[in-house]
Amino acid sequence: MTTGMRKGLTNYGDAGFSLFLRKAFIKGAGYTDRALDRPVIGITDTASGYNPCHGNMPQLLEAVQRGVLMAGGLPVKFPTISIGESFANPTSMYLRNLMSIDTEEMLRAQPMDAVVLIGGCDKTVPAQLMGAASAGLPAIQLITGSMLTGSHRGEVVGACTDCRRFWARFRAEDIEESEINAVNDQLVPSVGTCSVMGTASTMACIAEALGMTVPGGASPPAVTADRMRVAENTGATAVQMAKDGLTVDRVLTAKAFENAMRVLLAIGGSTNAVVHLTAIAGRMGFEVDLQALDRMGRETPVLLDLKPSGHHYMEHFHAAGGMATLLRELQPLLHLDALTVTGRTLGEELENAPPPFPQDVVRPRSNPIYPQGGLAVLQGNLAPGGAIIKQSAADARLMEHEGRAVVFEGLEDLALRIDSDELDVTADDVLVLKNIGPKGAPGMPEAGYIPIPRKLARQGVKDIVRISDGRMSGTAFGTIVLHVTPESAVGGPLAHVRNGDRIRLSVERREISLLVGDEELARRAQEQPVLEPTAERGYRKLFLTTVTQADQGVDFDFLRAAAMQGRIPKA
Ligand code: FES
Repeated sequence: MTTGMRKGLTNYGDAGFSLFLRKAFIKGAGYTDRALDRPVIGITDTASGYNPCHGNMPQLLEAVQRGVLMAGGLPVKFPTISIGESFANPTSMYLRNLMSIDTEEMLRAQPMDAVVLIGGCDKTVPAQLMGAASAGLPAIQLITGSMLTGSHRGEVVGACTDCRRFWARFRAEDIEESEINAVNDQLVPSVGTCSVMGTASTMACIAEALGMTVPGGASPPAVTADRMRVAENTGATAVQMAKDGLTVDRVLTAKAFENAMRVLLAIGGSTNAVVHLTAIAGRMGFEVDLQALDRMGRETPVLLDLKPSGHHYMEHFHAAGGMATLLRELQPLLHLDALTVTGRTLGEELENAPPPFPQDVVRPRSNPIYPQGGLAVLQGNLAPGGAIIKQSAADARLMEHEGRAVVFEGLEDLALRIDSDELDVTADDVLVLKNIGPKGAPGMPEAGYIPIPRKLARQGVKDIVRISDGRMSGTAFGTIVLHVTPESAVGGPLAHVRNGDRIRLSVERREISLLVGDEELARRAQEQPVLEPTAERGYRKLFLTTVTQADQGVDFDFLRAAAMQGRIPKA
């Protein structure tokens, strides 16, 4: 088998010359033949001035390279796209697949025996896992790590549950401009990813549950020595993976995905992770069965006491022992024989983990934060392909609710009318936002967290049922139905909801229904046919013509595995 710098030679029609030329060029950077004979470990450098969540990249790269060298490999870092959540227009999700293509093709094109994927901000870890799953090399994930918490007038704060909480108070005219400006300085007190159980932290925990990180890789904050030790260990592990030929398909198995789903449910994780896990699984040839995921949720309690479902922040989870503490508690529900990047099983790694100690961040299964998993899958005539609600972050009073639809046709309409005193809305209504699905916005933005209309916010209303085909940030909270499939932009039933229609939500029965007859809906569809969005050229054209719906992970259809191998979870 060809390895190292001999792999994947550039086509000049003469393999000997190709290798000769490659070595000549890399020697221009001062390498010796002895160095070039080592296993080559590629390291993705996703630093960007637009991505403070990856702001510790220089230190991480140094630590990974140290680990690679110590283990006898040759580290070679290379850049790929980086996506910072709040810097990407129209939304970071629009670019996730692009980053996955970049990652996949750079892994294929350049000579490396294993790769260290360094990511952290919401879309980067999913994109890297999707790309690596398709490329098929030995691959290991290194998480950048969470930011520290801040302090505002004696209160612990952190991005971004508190960003939303303070902003909602400002909208309700509960706090002054001077205070909102002051808290703005404290919400992100260091580099690193959001400090609550948002999408970034969720994907970090999922990556470890999948067996794609070294043990303990999910929780150390970005600026800690523990994070750097994880990085060094990751580099060393990558060399061993290269030597053993431990390719990604041996780690990303059906059992690994089921472990990841358990963890997603037990941490009260982000709804976005359902879409990302579906996309990663799709690359490995697994179809996600949303109904089975819901059944799994009914028997998986939320154990992690982190915002937005609970109270603590990621640094507290780390201090409580991180994933080992959680996995130990979940042990009877896990596939302990799933292989990890270390070459050992999840069960073996748990046995090797430091001993448990008293802590109050991970609850025992006998005393959970929430008796069921954080997420529930809804179905009904409004969402024939399913919808998701984060029940652990919803208002218990609204989970069985029937109300009058107050409809917004899209983001512009929402911006124009949501704060108008003329808006005909009460706290018992159901806000419906159309055209923010995969094709609609496009890119399925995190606009599903529709703000409480200002006139209701002023009256002290904190929650109202909201429904859309979009996503919401994992850091958000409320009775919010998301990912309605099929989306309105492709003519899903959501497109035909009108002001005043009655909508019924029953989380208990997993139901989301539009109380309008089929004939009437068919009449409306004929009266106002939906024109799917199109684009003339470029990435937008590729996106709009090939993006799949939420139940297929919002991946491009041509990137999913050519042959499917089964449905997960088997629950
Ligand atoms: Fe990057 Fe939250 S904005 S993780």
